[in-house]
Amino acid sequence: MMPRWLRKLHQVVGLLVGLQLLVWTCSGLVMSLLDVKKVRGEEFRVTSTSPRPWPANALSVDSLLATAMAPVHTISTGWLLEQPVYRLAGPQGPQLIDASSGAGIVLSAELVQKLALASYSGPGHPGQAELLEPSLETRAHAGRVWRVAFSDPEDTSVYLSQQGELLWHRNRSWRLYDFFWMLHIMDYSGRTDFNNYLLLSMAVGGLGLALSGLGLLIGRLRQINWTRLGRAGRCELSLFSPAGDKLQTLRAVPGKIVYQTLAGQGLQLPSNCGGGQSCGLCMVRVLGQAPAATEADREHLSERKIGSGWRLACNLTIKQGLAIELPEGVGQQTVCKAKVEAVQALAPFLREITLRPLLPAAAQFRPGAYLQLHIPPYSMERHKIEFPADQASDWAALELPASWSNTQLLRRAYSLACPVDQADGCLTLLVRIAHGRQALVNHPPGIGSAYLYGLKPGDALEFTGPFGDFAVQSGGRQKVFIGGGAGMAPLRAMIRSLLETGAAERIQFWYGAQSLRDAPYVAEMTAFAARYANFSWHLVLSGTAAPPELASGISTGLVHERAQQALLREGLDFLACDFYICGPPAMLTATRAMLKQRGVADERVSFDDFKS
Ligand SMILES: Cc1cc2nc3c(=O)[nH]c(=O)nc-3n(C[C@H](O)[C@H](O)[C@H](O)COP(=O)(O)OP(=O)(O)OC[C@H]3O[C@@H](n4cnc5c(N)ncnc54)[C@H](O)[C@@H]3O)c2cc1C
Ligand code: FES
Repeated sequence: MMPRWLRKLHQVVGLLVGLQLLVWTCSGLVMSLLDVKKVRGEEFRVTSTSPRPWPANALSVDSLLATAMAPVHTISTGWLLEQPVYRLAGPQGPQLIDASSGAGIVLSAELVQKLALASYSGPGHPGQAELLEPSLETRAHAGRVWRVAFSDPEDTSVYLSQQGELLWHRNRSWRLYDFFWMLHIMDYSGRTDFNNYLLLSMAVGGLGLALSGLGLLIGRLRQINWTRLGRAGRCELSLFSPAGDKLQTLRAVPGKIVYQTLAGQGLQLPSNCGGGQSCGLCMVRVLGQAPAATEADREHLSERKIGSGWRLACNLTIKQGLAIELPEGVGQQTVCKAKVEAVQALAPFLREITLRPLLPAAAQFRPGAYLQLHIPPYSMERHKIEFPADQASDWAALELPASWSNTQLLRRAYSLACPVDQADGCLTLLVRIAHGRQALVNHPPGIGSAYLYGLKPGDALEFTGPFGDFAVQSGGRQKVFIGGGAGMAPLRAMIRSLLETGAAERIQFWYGAQSLRDAPYVAEMTAFAARYANFSWHLVLSGTAAPPELASGISTGLVHERAQQALLREGLDFLACDFYICGPPAMLTATRAMLKQRGVADERVSFDDFKS
């Protein structure tokens, strides 16, 4: 721990040295910004010409010294304009001697002005020459100094010695520089001495400041709990099963998304869209305070689910630790292998694909559940899709591209279309091809379904699951199933399971298709209706009506409207029934809206949204 006094000292010294550091920095900056040529007074100074030869008739130094009246310490030659001169220095002071005659010269102000002008090349005019007493301005020369000021923008002054020697050109830039130089070296009186005590004490203070700062820093670093710091920026993501058992705790990074965090640690949530917030399959339940539902949550999850804390994991941010419940089966998923057992084209664009899992399918493969089939990278040609001859015209009308491909491993959800125990342990799927032709426009065919349409018996496939909470509700209430398209799959599995397990309640199945040839399992459903008194089957065709000889029991229109009319006609108590819906998005939305309008509570309506 750093002593208190040292801390205080550090602060006081820091303040003083800090101020001077500021001065050093600013003055250094100003000096470096000034034009060095101007500072040196070279701007308007006549550059010296080549040395002139010393005249042969000049007095010799010996004769000069012989006639000198006083001792001479130094003697030098020079010129006063065109006149050769000797400059003598001694205890009597400086003397200027005419080298031709040996007579002493006394400088007049006029001569000085002329000398100054001879050294000046600027635009200014010379002022009166003045003889200055020694001062700060003339500190670089001992004794008095002549000055001639010029009227130019730089306020140039020319300085000469008393012997007529040119000393300096000085101007505004030099004066500014000189001022900041004084601040920089902290010699406020002489402006030349950088060995002064003030500068020395500041330098020592700066060093002390740096050392005491280093000491403080080391003290601080010692106080830091590095282990805790290492853990900062990390939090825990706890996973629970639907039964409330803790499955595992994962290390997570605050701000990251749950879906990606789980995937990064090998736990892949169900998804058709790879975390794109568009399939609604990746839901998890937040335990404790759930964050406010986002638009994506509201789009894919029912109000009931949102109210119970369910959120899309691909849209759920980990804040400071999070506990979530994973849907059934998600916590212990393993990749399973299966072989294609049979492929049957039930309708032009609906195909039953039977898979035999390599390991026996367990009881959790309950009716209503879906699998996630793994769609590997592949390339495919149109002719690989086989179809019965009577469907050739349907396929020709699609104008599929000659070939297409998939470059990455994808997953797609497909519901079980039959209870496993009624299918000899096989997984029965009913797959509608997403052919891509919409309103006479050809989009690329769906990656997953087009791949499945290329499968032949014996082909291998991988899947995970089962997943999903679309299931028969307990309680034995009257049941109304409303579906269309591939939505037949989970509804059929549930109905078959109910009928085969002896359900006694009334069960109605309303199924919508474009035409009779687009509706799968018609014969099977008709047979069930004949066999089970509590089961009724209603096919509604939205396009081509059925031929008259087959039309008995088949109506035309939109399935949810026909169902509503018939149920109202027979006086069905909507509120006493459970409803199960699955089919194309438009049908699903319309049917749910119809039930809401009839006052049916959310918890009485189960549905699976295939989004296609
Ligand atoms: C819980 C659940 C259960 C499901 N069960 C079943 C089931 O039992 N049976 C079933 O058939 N389906 C089922 N689905 C739907 C299935 O998972 C797939 O979504 C469906 O098969 C389409 O997938 P895809 O890979 O073929 O199409 P994708 O490749 O996902 O393409 C989707 C659609 O976009 C179109 N498209 C592609 N490119 C373009 C483009 N550039 N411009 C415009 N459109 C384009 C495709 O033609 C296709 O119609 C289920 C879905 C869910 C969520
Ligand atoms: S992964 Fe599709 S919605 Fe989240």
